[in-house]
Amino acid sequence: MSNPARFAVIGNPITHSRSPEIHAAFAQQLAIDLDYRRLLAAEGDFDEVMRAFFDQGGRGLNVTLPFKAEALAAADVPSSRAQLAGAANTLWRDAAGRLCADNTDGVGFVRDLRENHGQAISDRRVLIIGAGGATRGLLQPLIEAGAASITIANRTVAKAQALVDCVDDPSRIGWCALDEASGHFDILINATSAGLSAALPAIRFDHLIGVRCAADLIYGEGAKPFVGEMRRRGVPLVFDGLGMLIEQAAESFAIWHGQRPDTAELIRSMAT
Ligand code: ATR
Repeated sequence: MSNPARFAVIGNPITHSRSPEIHAAFAQQLAIDLDYRRLLAAEGDFDEVMRAFFDQGGRGLNVTLPFKAEALAAADVPSSRAQLAGAANTLWRDAAGRLCADNTDGVGFVRDLRENHGQAISDRRVLIIGAGGATRGLLQPLIEAGAASITIANRTVAKAQALVDCVDDPSRIGWCALDEASGHFDILINATSAGLSAALPAIRFDHLIGVRCAADLIYGEGAKPFVGEMRRRGVPLVFDGLGMLIEQAAESFAIWHGQRPDTAELIRSMAT
């Protein structure tokens, strides 16, 4: 019997990554034999570790913090959405040996919002809190999903403003300081890392009108401050980033294996 095809997720730190269990569950569902592991790279060693993995027969790599920008830079064939996101989370080599890169984070979020939570995006007004890499990765997919407008609110306002050009149609993107966000928004997304230090971003929730959906991109413990606050305020649909995590993995899986796994059962089992 031949050895199973090798895949991995590379990052630093990496021990917390749930990608191996997610890909193993998809593989079992579709009866695909694979070996998916965690791969630690020291900062500065990403390129070497990544190339060694492929040279030794590795088929696909997921990339997590802090290497997503380096993964994009290393690619011979980056997708346009990875270029707009300024980051890649999925790598593979094509038949000619060229390194290909994509970014499935933003489409994973859009899919979770639409398919798993039944939330329309078309013609909706979106407010995103935070202006880091996570926000940047969401912009083009939300524009492509038909969002009427996207406002980026950030503590450091210049960082929000700098993201305007990270989409192919900047006319629907606006920005403001965190404490200045106000008005009508249908969808509120917390893309800050505040929850990781158990903090709530200093947004004036009383100034927001009509929010019917609030999502945190972090999952589990780090999402609790924001998710709890949104529920207390009576937002009808509130969820964390677990669905996005599983959907971005499903997108990567589909790129590598040409088959899309069903995600519903896994989201249910990992949420409990
Ligand atoms: P990522 O790549 O995950 O988006 P990042 O680039 O470090 O991470 O960005 C983190 C974002 O969370 C930033 O927008 C940061 O705001 P600043 O740009 O002003 O630093 C935001 N952030 C982190 N902690 C925050 C807090 N306690 N309140 C509000 N925003 C916070």
